[in-house]
Amino acid sequence: MIELAPSILSADFARLGEQARAAGEGGATVIHVDIMDGHFVPNLTIGPPVVKSLRKVTQLPFDCHLMIENPDDYIPAFAEAGADWISVHQEACRHLNRTLHLIKSHDCLAGVVINPATPVETLSEVLDVADYVLVMSVNPGFGAQKFIPSTLHKMRRLVDLRSERGLNYRIEVDGGVAIDTVADVVRAGAEILVAGNAVFGKGDPKKNAQELLKAATEASLQRV
Ligand code: DX5
Ligand code: ZN
Repeated sequence: MIELAPSILSADFARLGEQARAAGEGGATVIHVDIMDGHFVPNLTIGPPVVKSLRKVTQLPFDCHLMIENPDDYIPAFAEAGADWISVHQEACRHLNRTLHLIKSHDCLAGVVINPATPVETLSEVLDVADYVLVMSVNPGFGAQKFIPSTLHKMRRLVDLRSERGLNYRIEVDGGVAIDTVADVVRAGAEILVAGNAVFGKGDPKKNAQELLKAATEASLQRV
């Protein structure tokens, strides 16, 4: 099943609740929340208080993408604030197995993320622990960047590894997903589609979400 996870990074922060609701009305089933610390990535965004406030205005699950160093120090606070899914970067975790178990111990789904330069093979020992794997299709830090097509083979590889090993993780993609790239990521095997600029950049978020989901669903029917 294809799910759309709009990233509020590109939303109007003065109207976050309203924008999240509009995306939900357009068919989004998850809200993607980008957490940046100015160290792991060259940008700063939001912390647990914003997640807590947003929790009051939508029932949709929150997918908190931690682009931060020392994520173990902040996982409990995000879980407490209302995160449902929490993902951490392979590149930021010295003890990745421990960190994924820490996320699960807070009753959240545990995701692991790889940057464009990081091979899928670096995850081989944690694929049985992760609930989802997020393939970055841009270098993290900013919205509205150009999709990197050479990341597609990693989604295909994750599909193959999952069936070879009889695992259950889901495959998510983040970065540059828009009406002109969505068919490629879906055909490559992505099931959870993060989209920031394509949903909130211009026009009506509800309509944008609907169009993106429609294109994604059509592509999934053609998946080979
Ligand atoms: C990038 C973030 C993404 C970003 C995606 O560092 O992790 O979630 O918001 O934005 P778009 O869809 O605009 O590339
Ligand atoms: Zn993200």
